[in-house]
Amino acid sequence: MIEITPTSHFRKHWLIDPAIVFLNHGSFGACPRIVLQKQAYLRSQLENEPLRFFMRDWEPLLDQSRVCLASFVGADPEDVVFIPNATTGINAVLRSLDINTGDELLTTNHEYNASRNALDYVAQRYGAKVVVVDVPFPIQEKQQVITAVMDGVSDKTRLVLIDHVTSQTGLIFPIQELTQQLGSQGIETLVDGAHAPGMIPLKLRELGATYYTGNCHKWLCAPKGAGFLYVQRDRQAKIRPLSISHGANSSRTDKSRFQLEFDWTGTDDPTPYMCVPEAISLMGSWFQGGWDELMQHNHNLVITARKLISDAFSHQVLAPESMLGSMAAIPVPDGLQVWNYLDLHDVLLDKFGIEVQIVPWQFPPGLLVRVSAQIYNSINDYHKLIAALQEISK
Ligand SMILES: Cc1ncc(COP(=O)(O)O)c(C=O)c1O
Repeated sequence: MIEITPTSHFRKHWLIDPAIVFLNHGSFGACPRIVLQKQAYLRSQLENEPLRFFMRDWEPLLDQSRVCLASFVGADPEDVVFIPNATTGINAVLRSLDINTGDELLTTNHEYNASRNALDYVAQRYGAKVVVVDVPFPIQEKQQVITAVMDGVSDKTRLVLIDHVTSQTGLIFPIQELTQQLGSQGIETLVDGAHAPGMIPLKLRELGATYYTGNCHKWLCAPKGAGFLYVQRDRQAKIRPLSISHGANSSRTDKSRFQLEFDWTGTDDPTPYMCVPEAISLMGSWFQGGWDELMQHNHNLVITARKLISDAFSHQVLAPESMLGSMAAIPVPDGLQVWNYLDLHDVLLDKFGIEVQIVPWQFPPGLLVRVSAQIYNSINDYHKLIAALQEISK
């Protein structure tokens, strides 16, 4: 049930500028005050006695967080390490793999630019070829994703890099079906799940990805700099962090080399990782049905918003509801299609106080407005966006 109130009563839990209609949770997330307070406390503990914190407290705190996160994403703690963000996860995997000249690295035209750059980088370095398949948008059903990817596979395909939830178009890709089909041909999958944790339920044990990286600072609402990497147990020995540190020659046998290496990559602020349990329990406490209800709420809100915006400008919706989580991309009004996307973003922000992502999509329908729905949003926020777009279109 979508609350019809001018502002969501959850808004007070965030620091977000009250003057801004914030419709872009997707880009960087936003962290609730209570979680930030926890982080401030942990930071004060660290600075109070840095040696005690790093030599004694750090590892048990990190391990507790790992157990909590692993349970949330449906994985064994042994298979999960913390990293600052999904970009780090993508790079760590790609730069650890044995890639040979002539190998094909497959991805889609929806892939996030930074991850695509990392793929191009390793391809260039090892003389491999990047194969990009086009997943249609507008899209009618998930089978179109499967067909596009499987049609791009050849006997040279070494790895598929694929988003779980696409950044620009907000689509949920059918990862489990893909890992099954690709796995049966011996092809590894690196899943870019930057948006998935906290947006859609995750069961990594069943999903079948060889490698999966996700962010906790987006939809899980942990502080910035909290992400994770999951690697199937039999592949862990090969995957090394971007910074080689103490773990590389540790004589410890109580943890895998994978964990020893990733857990310590040099002195840094580990408090984002240690706040993940706080974010999971806080956000999960706000609805009687816990996270499932929260995710369903955000999904319902974005579906309602998408219909309102599409109807206001007489556009068809671009994807089935079942392929959306809590972001949706909608064409901007026809009269605004000729705008530069950055200019349109800036006018919405500077003149109307609306923060929303404008996406220059490569094919018709052209410019898209990608809205996010988090529990601090209300329907009224999307009405304001419609009114602003109508005003700019005049
Ligand atoms: C699909 C996708 N992958 C990767 C990233 C990168 O996330 P980060 O900057 O936290 O590494 C994003 C960020 O929006 C994304 O949407």
